[in-house]
Amino acid sequence: MTKEVLGAILKSIDEGIHVVNTDGQTIYYNEVAAKHDGLEVNEVLGKPLLTAFPSLTEGTSTLLRVIRSEKPIFNQTQMYVNMHGNKIETMNTTLPIFLEKKIIGAVEIAKDYSRMKLLAERLLDLQKGFKKEENRDPKRKNVKYTLDDLKTTNEEFLRMKIEAVKLAKSDSPILVYGESGTGKELFVQGIHDASLRAQGPFIAQNCAAIPETLLESILFGTAKGSYTGAVERKGLFELADGGTLFLDELHTMPIELQAKLLRVLEDGLVRKVGGSHSNVANVRVIAAMNEHPKQALLERKLRSDLFYRLNVFAFSLQPLRERKEDILYLTDFFIQLYNEQLFKKVQGIEREVELFFLRYAWPGNVRELKHTIEYMMNVCEGNILLSSHLPVMLKQYGSIENTRNKEEVSLSLRSSMRNHERQLIEEALYKTSGNIQQASKLLDIPRQTLQYKIQKLLN
Ligand SMILES: Nc1ncnc2c1ncn2[C@@H]1O[C@H](COP(=O)(O)OP(=O)(O)OP(=O)(O)O)[C@@H](O)[C@H]1O
Ligand SMILES: [Mg+2]
Repeated sequence: MTKEVLGAILKSIDEGIHVVNTDGQTIYYNEVAAKHDGLEVNEVLGKPLLTAFPSLTEGTSTLLRVIRSEKPIFNQTQMYVNMHGNKIETMNTTLPIFLEKKIIGAVEIAKDYSRMKLLAERLLDLQKGFKKEENRDPKRKNVKYTLDDLKTTNEEFLRMKIEAVKLAKSDSPILVYGESGTGKELFVQGIHDASLRAQGPFIAQNCAAIPETLLESILFGTAKGSYTGAVERKGLFELADGGTLFLDELHTMPIELQAKLLRVLEDGLVRKVGGSHSNVANVRVIAAMNEHPKQALLERKLRSDLFYRLNVFAFSLQPLRERKEDILYLTDFFIQLYNEQLFKKVQGIEREVELFFLRYAWPGNVRELKHTIEYMMNVCEGNILLSSHLPVMLKQYGSIENTRNKEEVSLSLRSSMRNHERQLIEEALYKTSGNIQQASKLLDIPRQTLQYKIQKLLN
């Protein structure tokens, strides 16, 4: 029974599994492993390892090494060519198997990461390509935006822009925090543009977009032979030499890598993965996150030492709902922008839309406002944007708000609590596009409780 259950589990998982006994003979080999290797299971099962894989030796096979050393090997990358001549790269963990303290074999768990790696490397090559292009024309700007593109009438925001121009001239790392759509990208590009490095490269990398295992080599580069088949590659620090490296969504960077990043910020030296010497990095690092640093610290997604290093020059971009004066100001700005782009002559929005805009929470911040205006200008025929032009999603939200406002003012604590609860639930559902699991997380209640509350609200 145990054997059957184990067999079913091993068959259904997505990793290659390969077990050899102490004679180096394969005693278990699953379909995924066979697929990686481009072989049939029965071409390997029961055979000595070195017969099935002639390109391996006693010294290079991790399974045979573990049998000899009786010590596990974690997350080792291995490159080999399979029988069809395809280059395969796997990330292996190899463990000794003991029975009553005596080694009886070794098991290897392998993730194929050739495809992930290929993608990541293409990305790097693309960045390099961009850099070459930029080099051709020294007068060409390396960023799309300047700080002037960041429109605001909010006093605090205006003060922050002035501060940013001053700090742009220093080489200190900067941390920018703001909810999604608050203008972090604009702000960071603006700082690069206002810095003494404006003519240097601007390299942006979203830490969440690259598999954790590859981020380190993408950032720092790889030295030739750091693992089997590794070639010499530049990292983003090297590509950003003389310019700015923008690390977006820093809180998604693996915690150990954050320690390495901190070291680079402290001593200004970069060492390639597998490299034997360090080089000076002439790079200004700007990091951004859309999760509040305090929250990220609590959840241990952000190292506190790195945070304190970055927090010296930190900017927090306010959500749109907390700088209400910007809502109508930016509305006008975007109307002018789209008047030019769409050859229209829209003059403004009707009073009802104005009131709605001011009341609405704008979970997607300026990005959401911008797209709302773009949408309304596309559907409107006259010169004024009307509430009938509002996107359906917003309209639904608005009608709920309106009916609520028309309700008689009640002093009943029970009913106002219920209304407040309804409001929070609606907002959470709106923010997560109706995903109950995610909404329950935002509301900090169990999913079942939320489901029950929704049922009750619907009745
Ligand atoms: N103050 C502003 N003035 C003019 N346009 C703005 C402003 N803030 C944001 N935008 C516009 O809103 C959109 C989103 O901005 P941006 O990409 O900088 O957001 P972000 O903070 O990086 O969001 P995310 O966390 O989702 O990446 C962009 O099209 C940008 O042009
Ligand atoms: Mg962004």
